[in-house]
Amino acid sequence: MINRRKFIENLSAAGALSLIPAGLKANPIIYDVSLGAKSLPVVISTWIHGINANAKAIEVLKNGGSVVDAVEQGVMIPEADPENRSVGLGGLPDRDGHVTLDACIMGPDGNAGSVCFLENIVHPISVARMVMEKTPHVMLAGEGALQFALENGFEEQNLLTPGAEKAWKDWLKESKYDPELNWENKPNEFHDTIGLLAVDQNGDIAGACTTSGLGFKMRGRVGDSPIIGAGLYVDNEVGGATATGMGELVIKVVGSFLVVELMRNGKSPQQACEEAVARIVKKVPENKIRQVGFIAMNKKGETGAYCLQPGFNYALYQDNINEMHDSKSFY
Ligand code: GLY
Repeated sequence: MINRRKFIENLSAAGALSLIPAGLKANPIIYDVSLGAKSLPVVISTWIHGINANAKAIEVLKNGGSVVDAVEQGVMIPEADPENRSVGLGGLPDRDGHVTLDACIMGPDGNAGSVCFLENIVHPISVARMVMEKTPHVMLAGEGALQFALENGFEEQNLLTPGAEKAWKDWLKESKYDPELNWENKPNEFHDTIGLLAVDQNGDIAGACTTSGLGFKMRGRVGDSPIIGAGLYVDNEVGGATATGMGELVIKVVGSFLVVELMRNGKSPQQACEEAVARIVKKVPENKIRQVGFIAMNKKGETGAYCLQPGFNYALYQDNINEMHDSKSFY
């Protein structure tokens, strides 16, 4: 058992608080995580914005929410953060100045929902969940996704914050499209997708993945994050995986599905992530100049992470400690 003070100490001891971007530090979200289980639940998510997302997911589980509630509400934290330049509100726009969002969610029952190229809705993950639960479909795109969201009570909001607009106008001066390595990890500048996996006390797994995609992308570009099997995959018999980084590389190897299938065939989550990255190295020539990271978790709550280039980190909540870890990399 751990009390609120101990949890804050854990964060501090791990140096995690010092890693939280200034915008988050001003108003840190710290939850009591007094859960009885020794090793489950476990929550893992990409990048520093995962710390608060994990904490929220754990809070939801503690309060009796389902594992799908936990992953959805976890990633809603960075979606609503206007300082986060890669997810939801405040995300970097495309080259024409439009913020377009991609998200997907998958539950332990194998059901899945997704939206892509969605504009003006702060929480694409919740629209994705509604696609999963209220329609016979998996994915809705663009205007159709927006129409569905509005019909179901979501409200439109301008997602282009002054900070993101300034970044776009600065970019327009040169209009050079060349995604920087690890741009995801520059606090208050660029991040990337949040992918979050949770296993609850019963060993049931769900995952959520949400992003504004590459900053200043071509209008209409959709990355890996809303594509079931690429940005996220969950199989409750095996485990789950999610991806971050340059989506084009992930899509070409159907990365998250690959990781889960490797686990199904006996690999540990760590071995599976490493083999999926090795597949990208073998098959996708841009691997030398782009970043991709995978995180994975099996039903026992064992986790893994691996990436192409140094610089990727992830947030792991396990045994009542929620802290950042540096991923090992191929290069
Ligand atoms: N991984 C996010 C994207 O490529 O859009």
